[in-house]
Amino acid sequence: MDYDEVREVDPEVADALTGERDRQEETLAMIASENHVSEAVLEAQGSVLTNKYAEGYPGARYYAGCEYADEVETLAVERATELWGADHVNVQPHSGTQANQAVYYAMLDPGDRILSLDLNHGGHLSHGHPANFTGQIYDVEQYEVDPETGRIDYEGLREMAEAFDPDIVVSGYSAYPRAVDWEEIQAAADAADAYHLADIAHITGLVAAGVHPSPVGVADFVTGSTHKTIRAGRGGIVMCDAEYADDIDKAVFPGGQGGPLMHNIAGKAVGFKEALEPEFETYAQAVVDNARTLGDTLADHGLELVSGGTDTHLVLVDLRESHPDLTGGDAEDALAAAGVVLNANTVPAETRSPFNPSGIRAGTAGLTTRGFDETAIEEVGDLIYRVVDDVDSEDVIYEVGERVVELCEEFPLYAR
Ligand SMILES: Cc1ncc(COP(=O)(O)O)c(C=O)c1O
Repeated sequence: MDYDEVREVDPEVADALTGERDRQEETLAMIASENHVSEAVLEAQGSVLTNKYAEGYPGARYYAGCEYADEVETLAVERATELWGADHVNVQPHSGTQANQAVYYAMLDPGDRILSLDLNHGGHLSHGHPANFTGQIYDVEQYEVDPETGRIDYEGLREMAEAFDPDIVVSGYSAYPRAVDWEEIQAAADAADAYHLADIAHITGLVAAGVHPSPVGVADFVTGSTHKTIRAGRGGIVMCDAEYADDIDKAVFPGGQGGPLMHNIAGKAVGFKEALEPEFETYAQAVVDNARTLGDTLADHGLELVSGGTDTHLVLVDLRESHPDLTGGDAEDALAAAGVVLNANTVPAETRSPFNPSGIRAGTAGLTTRGFDETAIEEVGDLIYRVVDDVDSEDVIYEVGERVVELCEEFPLYAR
């Protein structure tokens, strides 16, 4: 992975690519929405399919020469169907946000009502935030997590659904560490005779492996990103019941997108094949076990975890109790200086600005891909605590940084 061809043409971009390759190799990627794809997925994503226009769907394209594009997309769809078990799958969305957009566009009219989780409580911009098109086109009301437990208040949600009468209830989250009870959300949607969109962007891999309950067969629509826990490269996916298949396909293309990114769809096909291997289940279970170990380690040091722990790939730390003067942004910066890359995050009942909130969010999908086991993750938890507890100490940042480099060498990422 030397990017020699790029260097011939464009040394500046080649420098950035090798810099990024080294950054990923030499730091701990703990941003909960990230992961590391295999070299096979990388190769497929960097393939000649980037040259191909294939508007339409397999067997019904608007261009000639689509025989290999058809083959690749059909394989991606077949494998996704096997992984998640939905009646219908569309693998063309360019990202998770575009997958959500397709569902709204297919099923809602401007002014229709969306009931979704507040961003500060773990929701996502594409679920109705004012800065997103969803917040501008639709009438949005938002639910929150229970302030005591940090968990979805399903009864409260149902009452809100009855009062607000939404057209769609959105579940699936960005910063929610607990298993979601899809049937409870469905009950809220049913109470309002609304559709239910379950956005499993973060937990696609956990659901595919059966280590998190699946909303497929419960919710009308299931969307996701393909580059997070499923490790299949950048992109999105929509799944739905057979009755909505045509509406969804039309909403993806031509409704919201032009030509599909066939190279990315090739990456999805390869990543899905990898996820169908029995080792993927072992991987997904290890992601969850590692997250639990990380949470336990941080909690043993006195940090407060939102909801008290995790059932997924991520932990969310509310710093206000243990370190009232420390913002998530300052913790993020100090950790990044030590080679631990995670993100500042809002926490329920946030009292600071979303630009410098009171929490940090950390995920274990990437480190588990590198082979980090529970012993190594426990040490990572200790290292995170050392920095968080002493963000101004250059010595601590230096010492932790040295150990991070050693750990990265112990658990290499790509052959170079
Ligand atoms: C719940 C949820 N939905 C959608 C998305 C958007 O995914 P993408 O970045 O692929 O558009 C995210 C991103 O993290 C997410 O957490």
